[in-house]
Amino acid sequence: MSIISAPRGTRDILPSESWKWSYIINQAALTMKDFGFSEIHLPIFEHTELFSRGVGETTDIVEKEMYTFNDRGGRSITLRPEATAGVMRAAIENNLCAQGSSARLWNWGPMFRHERPQKGRYRQFYQIDAECLGIANASADVDIISLSIELFRRLGLRNLEVVINSVGCEKCRPVYRKKLIEYFTAHKDSLCETCLARLDRNPLRILDCKNESCGRVADNAPDIYDSLCDECREHFAQVRLGLERLNFAYKINKRLVRGLDYYTKTAYEILSGDLGSQNAVAGGGRYDNLASAISSSKIPGVGFACGLDRVMLVMEEQGCSFGESPRVSVYAVAMDEASRGNIQTLAYELRKNNISCEYDLTGTKSFKAQMKASGSCRFACIIGSEERENNLVAIKDLNNSTQESIALSEAVNYLKTRL
Ligand code: HAM
Repeated sequence: MSIISAPRGTRDILPSESWKWSYIINQAALTMKDFGFSEIHLPIFEHTELFSRGVGETTDIVEKEMYTFNDRGGRSITLRPEATAGVMRAAIENNLCAQGSSARLWNWGPMFRHERPQKGRYRQFYQIDAECLGIANASADVDIISLSIELFRRLGLRNLEVVINSVGCEKCRPVYRKKLIEYFTAHKDSLCETCLARLDRNPLRILDCKNESCGRVADNAPDIYDSLCDECREHFAQVRLGLERLNFAYKINKRLVRGLDYYTKTAYEILSGDLGSQNAVAGGGRYDNLASAISSSKIPGVGFACGLDRVMLVMEEQGCSFGESPRVSVYAVAMDEASRGNIQTLAYELRKNNISCEYDLTGTKSFKAQMKASGSCRFACIIGSEERENNLVAIKDLNNSTQESIALSEAVNYLKTRL
């Protein structure tokens, strides 16, 4: 292990890439605003129990992927593997859904899961997450799904597939669970070891096993739709109707159960055809029992999270636009030693007026070297002895190499009209 290498599954987002990330976050912020979501900032670590009770003891995340440690006070702490449980915790703690009111919250930031790293899968990865709390109605599910679709539309992603399912509720799922255990027990010989271990604890997860033999068995497993209670059936119909009203293409996949235990009724994913095996760019669904799993409150909720790292990969792959790459507007150039101080003053004046400006901080670059360095900027502002004596600045347009002499006091106004 070298300490000069980032830990496995983590990476640096360097300046060459970070401006593209900012573009995506800005687009997300605008989309969230248009859908009436407010930003919430959450701790990156929480009490371990929040996730074991919220996400579920029998999930892969809780069983084997969490970064958990005891802090110096002996409390078990976990780096958040996802944001939903934290958002719900914050809403309950801060009474955001008091007296049946609702809250629409979004956040973005790093999540941590100890998974095997591969393309599109990291141990520290980033999510944009949105949660709609306090509304049990199917229109909230449609709102969340349409929000994620709209975000991807604005980012210019193509070749996406929306896949939805209903995973039932605490009333009808036990019936389905029992049917599944019976069915899979009869096909035990064809199941992989992981699925055999899941058989009694979490048989629904067998449905989305990627193993071919398990997949064949799962394809013929009892259909959840035959077990849904009237309420879940009606809710699913309403979600579908809402999506159709908005003209969204979607597919139903009865084997989509997702890796988190808190889901009730709607579960969905958005898949990209350009990602290989880690093809989900977003996933989400309804979680009406999460609040009661972690507290004595009852707050329904529905939300989604999109994987920023994966969105980035798809956008690069598809040649999507990230807006204009950042370009510093002005390079301030000193023609002689005596002008270096004037350059510093000019640079600060421009920056105060929101005109980005760079200059030679080493104070050693020749005039020629400074002009060369100005190449990536839009303008060069040049000061030499003549300019100093007459309170002028020479402004060179680096797009067409034309140059004008301007009164120093007019430089800000001049540049503002030209930028
Ligand atoms: P999730 O499906 O576990 O759901 O994660 C959501 C998205 O995060 C995935 O679709 C994927 O794009 C990205 N993602 C997950 N794990 C990794 C990883 N190791 N590396 C890179 N990207 C990853 C949740 O986290 C739920 N909290 C979503 C939700 C919000 N449900 C309701 N509200």
